[in-house]
Amino acid sequence: MTERAALLLERIHARKARVGVVGLGYVGLPLAITFAEAGFPITGIDVDSRRVDRLRRGESPIRHVPSSAIQVLVEARQLQPTTSFESVRDLDCIIICVPTPLTSEREPDMSAVIAAGNAVAQHLREGQLVVLESTTYPGTTDEVLRPLLEKNGLVAGTGFHLAFSPEREDPGNASYGTRTIPKLVAGHTQSCLELAQALYSSALEKVVPVSSTRVAELAKLHENIFRAVNIALVNEMKMLCDRMGLDVWEVIQAASTKPFGFMPFVPGPGLGGHCIPIDPFYLTWKARQFEFHTRFIELAGEVNTQMPHYVVQRTMEGLNRERKTLNGARLLVLGVAYKREVDDLRESPALRIITLLRERGARVDYHDPYVPEVERAHGFNYEMRSVPLEPHLIELYDAVLILTDHAAIDYAEVVTHANLVVDTRNATGRLKRFREKIIKA
Ligand SMILES: NC(=O)c1ccc[n+]([C@@H]2O[C@H](COP(=O)([O-])OP(=O)(O)OC[C@H]3O[C@@H](n4cnc5c(N)ncnc54)[C@H](O)[C@@H]3O)[C@@H](O)[C@H]2O)c1
Repeated sequence: MTERAALLLERIHARKARVGVVGLGYVGLPLAITFAEAGFPITGIDVDSRRVDRLRRGESPIRHVPSSAIQVLVEARQLQPTTSFESVRDLDCIIICVPTPLTSEREPDMSAVIAAGNAVAQHLREGQLVVLESTTYPGTTDEVLRPLLEKNGLVAGTGFHLAFSPEREDPGNASYGTRTIPKLVAGHTQSCLELAQALYSSALEKVVPVSSTRVAELAKLHENIFRAVNIALVNEMKMLCDRMGLDVWEVIQAASTKPFGFMPFVPGPGLGGHCIPIDPFYLTWKARQFEFHTRFIELAGEVNTQMPHYVVQRTMEGLNRERKTLNGARLLVLGVAYKREVDDLRESPALRIITLLRERGARVDYHDPYVPEVERAHGFNYEMRSVPLEPHLIELYDAVLILTDHAAIDYAEVVTHANLVVDTRNATGRLKRFREKIIKA
């Protein structure tokens, strides 16, 4: 380790290292707070000036991140949000947490990583540590980020330090948070690894080093692909169970009593969120360069993207039973966020289902306690506002579709007043009394 690297290590151990987090979203903001709470002075950099203004006022832009935590840190100047990359010059460590979506051709969209890399490169100083956290294909840190950072003459491993540490954030998870989720860390060189390991160990409970940035990149994708494939499997099982007249939820519960070799996954109306519907295709794309076809990923994608259509089909079957058509039906969707207890609409299957229902002539309203309005975005061409959830209003709808099972909703009351319920989350599983009104989908 060079003398300069040893000095940085000392600053990290003393929690004097100035840390910058680039991208203050679902991943970057909790990370910035965790490092600030561990005693590091944090600069948060984001291109979204509205977001930065809100943070400066001590307001959280994310439902499950409390404003109080931000307020205390901002007032103490322990967390300084800014839109300017000039502050990079004064930092010791820079952690990049920007989005990695897909393009319209469903290929990796590296534009935010490239923009952030270029902006950091402009102000890069000798001896700094740069860590990428964004979920991405194996080779990104080395093949995409490193050349950007090296273009002004500093070389990774000697001039500056480079690492990859994949984010494993699970918004809304009450058992695990940023500090307690074990963190994989990999360095471009051994001293890059030692510095990154020291940095994360100073704020997080458990850090797990791996041998290369490519291994860490692929490990993260493997985790998400594992979920995508298992969700597809259980979704297929659900459709078969519906056809056989069996309750898939009871089947899953029964199988879960096996204490080894089985892990329960639950079916739903389709994949949602920024990770599971998207990340697997980062690997599919990269695998093509190696003349390799990722068949499990493709098959899982095929099953999971059909689920919104299946929900529409089941809704039609339910209405048909009542001698009604989908065309002209009044429908209420409960929950539009992609999963329970979050306000995140990215890739939410509810938006796809609402679109399919409207295209078939249904009149659709929604209620979501965490999403007051839905704007045109995420491939969604409507603007909608959450309607109140009141018994006399529920009665007016031909069917209520439970697409996200937020805990704040009283499902017994919903079922009592609804004419028909299409339940994709087993939110009504315990309400046996009303079985004839409920369609599982
Ligand atoms: N959300 C999750 O649960 C989750 C979990 C694990 C991994 N990840 C991964 O973490 C990464 C970030 O995801 P996220 O959910 O935090 O995204 P996000 O959209 O919530 O936040 C990203 C932030 O980065 C900002 N940004 C975009 N381009 C920028 C740039 N060039 N410079 C500075 N800021 C920029 C945006 O304004 C936004 O505030 C992605 O690669 C994602 O796959 C997300």
